[in-house]
Parts: sequence; structure tokens; C-alpha cells
Amino acid sequence: MLKGKHIILGITGSIAAYKAAYIIRGLVKKGAEVQVVITPSGKEFITPITLSALSSNPVISDFFSNRDGTWHSHVDLGLWADAMLVAPATASTIGKMANGIADNMLVTTYLSCKAPVFVAPAMDLDMFAHPTTQQNLERLRSFGNQIIEPATGELASHLVGKGRMEEPDKIIAVLEDFFERGTLLKGRKVLITAGPTYEKIDPVRFIGNYSSGKMGFALAEACAVSGAEVALVTGPVSLQIHHPNIRRVDVESAAEMHQACQEIFPTVDAAILCAAVADYRLDNPAKEKIKREKSGDLLLHLIPNPDIAASLGKVKKDNQVLVGFALETNDEFQHAAEKMERKNLDFIVLNSLRDTGAGFRCNTNKVSILMKNGERTDYPLKSKQEVADDIVKQLGSILNARI
Ligand code: C5P
Repeated sequence: MLKGKHIILGITGSIAAYKAAYIIRGLVKKGAEVQVVITPSGKEFITPITLSALSSNPVISDFFSNRDGTWHSHVDLGLWADAMLVAPATASTIGKMANGIADNMLVTTYLSCKAPVFVAPAMDLDMFAHPTTQQNLERLRSFGNQIIEPATGELASHLVGKGRMEEPDKIIAVLEDFFERGTLLKGRKVLITAGPTYEKIDPVRFIGNYSSGKMGFALAEACAVSGAEVALVTGPVSLQIHHPNIRRVDVESAAEMHQACQEIFPTVDAAILCAAVADYRLDNPAKEKIKREKSGDLLLHLIPNPDIAASLGKVKKDNQVLVGFALETNDEFQHAAEKMERKNLDFIVLNSLRDTGAGFRCNTNKVSILMKNGERTDYPLKSKQEVADDIVKQLGSILNARI
């Protein structure tokens, strides 16, 4: 998977810099081409001679070559790369990356880099736990960068805690996994619905629900990272997309979501319906704000919304895959299996409100996947990103088995 890949390895001033030598060796052994960019303090920990010998490329540290004054183009480097890995990444470099402080070649290259970026922090446990570091890492995550979490163990300070840079073989495995995933849905088109729907009561009020859209957005990113072109039809949420291969379609009501899905579905290979669609809407929303003084008891007449999943299930072609979600509170497996049947889904992702850490608004989820043929996989509590990866793997294996 790493054969022929162009990797920029950013090295910063941490005692873990010696491990960068092993990372280069591992990457080169697997056929990757490595270009090292090192910060001035990184050179205090490991010599450029070691790094250039291992990578068979000159090491870049300055904006200009000291030898002949030629400019090192961070723009060209950013375009050349298939991935950028910053390992080890100090608190200082993470802070600079998170805030655009481009006072060295490494951060300048990071800002020019169009390829996916991986960051392997290495620092003392208290520095890692500090809110500044954690906020900066969160900011990098929000840019779509992948943080390779440090391990817990003995640190250079002899203190024991979380902050040890992950081992080189594990870091290389993360990159390999990334490039492998990039082929899973290559050339596929996927429709995803996410978030709640808002059903108008009057010009200022609506009926909504607690869905945050986090699961659907994580799915959109996971599908895009796996090589798919994604259409993300989302209700009102305060989330942002990062991957360039995601086309976002904002809708408000179930009727709008339904219409968008009907238009897009015939053009895709698969649809994952993650939205918490309101089951009912007002028959006749008020044109003007309803006044409390005038209305006394307020009766809202609700009529059923279209079931988007069921309507797509009706027109689904043999080569299309339809995936739904079921959020249940009781008799979970039975209800989910019935839903899968009724909506003509290929598989259904079940989460129960009885499980803590699952469902609306949280960053984690605990799901089971039920397949049409009766197979069932129960997963442990995971981040919504990891759950999205599990769902994408199932989707990829179904689509790829059909070729
Ligand atoms: O029937 P229930 O709402 O529990 O089904 C959940 C699944 O159906 C989810 O995949 C959800 O996105 C989808 N759904 C839909 N349109 C609706 C209701 C649910 O697409 N009106």
C-alpha cells in the first residue's frame, strides 16, 4: 500500500526524534519515498546526515539552501505529497500548526499541503494533558488531520503517563491502513442523510429533535476517505465538512430531505440513511407568529411525513445498497429486523438508548449491525468516527463482492 507513495516526514524538537529514523527506514522498506522536513530544534536531537542517508533525499530545514541560495518550495512539496506525517510533534509545533504560525519550513509546508496530514504527538504527560495542547489537537482534528494518539508509559522525564510517541511500526500501520482504505470505495458514489429535520409550526417555531448530525458527518468523512464521492443531505446542524469529495446539500424539513434524496439516489451506488427524520409535520403551518394571548389551548394537527428510507427501498436497483439506522429503546433486535424488511434495506445499524454513550449528541456510539441474511455483529462502545469506519467496511465488502 505504501509502494510509490510520497511522504513528507516532519520532525520536531523532541527526544522521540530518534524514532523518526526507524519511521523512515520502515517507510522506505515498504517502497515509499520520504522527504524529511525538520525544524531548527529538531536538528538538536537528530542529525540531518542520518536522516538524509536513510531517506536518500536531502533534508529540508531552511527556506533557502545554505549551499547555493536556491528556494525550497513548500508549495511544490505540498503538491508532491500523498501524505504528511509529523512525528514526533511537539506541543510547540502542534500549537503553530493549529494557529498558522508559519515561522519555519515545517509549518509552512503543512499550510501548503493538500494531502492528508497525520500528527504523532510526543511530550511530557502534563504538557499533553494541558488544555492548550488538547484544544490545539482538537483544532487540528477539526481541520481533518488525524492524530495518532501517544501511548502511556515512561517518559524522558522518568515520569509515567500519556505522552510517549506511538511506536514507529504502529505509526506506519496507520498510514498503510489509510492508503488501503482509500481504495475501499474508490469510484463509488454514496448518498448520506444526517441530522434532524425541522418541521415548521409558524415563522419562528418548529418541531425538531436532539440529533446532532455527528454520526452522519463521521460517515460522510469515512466514505470520502475511503475513496467515494459523497452527497451529504443534512438537516440543520452546527457541523462542518472537511473532505473535498463531500458535496453538502442543506435542507430543513423532511419533505425537502425527501426531495433531495429522490433526485440523488438514482445516481449513487449506495445510500446510508442516518438522519433523524421527523415522523410528522404540521398540516398547515401558521403564516404569522402564533400569539399566546389569542390562542388559549393550542392544538397542532400533524400529518405523517414521507418515509425516505422506505421510498428509496421501493425504487432500489439490484446493484444499489441501502443502509438504515434504528434507534430503539426496547425489543431492539426484533424492531430493527422488522425495519430492515419493511424498508428493503441491505443492512441496518442498531443503537439502543439503553446503552450509555450511544445515540443522540454524544461523541461515542455502541452499535450492532444486522445483515439481510440474518448475520449480526455486535461492536463495543467506540467513537463515532470508529463506528463510521466499521459501517464503511461492511458497505465496501458488500459493494466489492458484487463486482
Ligand atoms: O422508522 P424509523 O424512523 O425508526 O427508521 C429509522 C431509519 O429510517 C433511519 O435510517 C432513518 O434515517 C430512516 N427514516 C427515513 N425517513 C423517515 C423516517 C426514518 O429515511 N421519515
